[in-house]
Amino acid sequence: MPRAPLDWIDGELGRLAEAGLRRSLEPLASAQGPVVTVGGRTLVNLCSNDYLGLAGDPRLRAAAAAAAEAEGAGAGASRLVAGDLAVHGRLEAAIASLHRAEAALLFNSGYHANAGVPAALVGRDDEIFSDVLNHASIVDGALLSRATFTRYRHGDAQELSDLLSRSRARRKLVITDAVFSMDGDAAPLAEIAGLCDRHGAMLYVDEAHAVGVLGPTGAGLAEAVGVKDRVDVEMGTLGKALGAFGAYVAGEARLRDLLVSRARSFVFTTALPPAACGAALAALAVVRDDPARRARLHALMARMKAGLTARGFDVAAVVSPIFPVVLGTEARALAAAAALRERGFFVRAIRPPTVPRGTSRLRVALTAGHDEGQVDGFLEALDEAVAGLAEA
Ligand SMILES: Cc1ncc(COP(=O)(O)O)c(C=O)c1O
Repeated sequence: MPRAPLDWIDGELGRLAEAGLRRSLEPLASAQGPVVTVGGRTLVNLCSNDYLGLAGDPRLRAAAAAAAEAEGAGAGASRLVAGDLAVHGRLEAAIASLHRAEAALLFNSGYHANAGVPAALVGRDDEIFSDVLNHASIVDGALLSRATFTRYRHGDAQELSDLLSRSRARRKLVITDAVFSMDGDAAPLAEIAGLCDRHGAMLYVDEAHAVGVLGPTGAGLAEAVGVKDRVDVEMGTLGKALGAFGAYVAGEARLRDLLVSRARSFVFTTALPPAACGAALAALAVVRDDPARRARLHALMARMKAGLTARGFDVAAVVSPIFPVVLGTEARALAAAAALRERGFFVRAIRPPTVPRGTSRLRVALTAGHDEGQVDGFLEALDEAVAGLAEA
């Protein structure tokens, strides 16, 4: 029975629908993979973050099952109480090794890491400098920290430099996505690292979409541009290219020590379940031992980039498997997604507040599990979908 105190929700949902902003779930009837079953149809999946195609990999599934068998279905407590299992330590050692860092600390998701870590590093007397396109979890974590929250224009190192020069804050913390989640471009990390050095600011890089994808060993953008030693807080996720679930911060041992005591999203939550950790360990082994998988993804990225560029889409800055096909209004993005689905491709429309108003888009994401034919087929289907929009 609907309860009267919740009646206001009807109006709210109506307003969201009218604005083209109501969101809905799309249950998959298959495992995650390059091809999925949605709404009774088999579609080429171009909207996951499973960049290395590992989420459905038999090695990860087996490792998840083995870890659950050995250490249980759940951790049973927070790490600081009785939930600090052996698999957590093994996974943190493997992450520290990937990042050639002194230490790593697991978080339950990238959202948890970004929501909790800033407040452990800065407070009221301090200032956070954040790219305007940083992920929502960084914005939430910055607001929770109570530090002055200053945003700089996307990728604008000059504006960041001016802001850092003017700041009188006790501690300064610069936070940036490595690869931006809805645009697929990279932060000017070498310049930002130089600015942080000059101004004594801490540098926090969110490698969520770069780990496993960029860098000679797949350690991310900081590795790719040679600034690993100048990043103070390197955050990464286990649920995207690594095909599992969870997240981490890699850095100095004293940073880890502080987060263990101070990061509320680490302290006040049940530890990751063994299955997720086992799968992540297997994924890290693939990243270490199978660089060809990364190379294959990069070949597909080059093909997609050339195809979209030839069609007039601005993807020049893209360095990742994420391609923004910006269409403008919510209605156009929704219509294009529907037309692509008719043609066998699963791509979702991304709308405000995830992206700025007027830049609603298709966020097309590749994985190493796709093939050239799927990329070419998508580009042809996109031509038809976009032609249909022009007529509408
Ligand atoms: C840049 C960035 N950081 C953090 C997250 C959150 O990570 P998780 O999905 O592990 O919560 C995401 C997306 O989900 C992201 O795009």
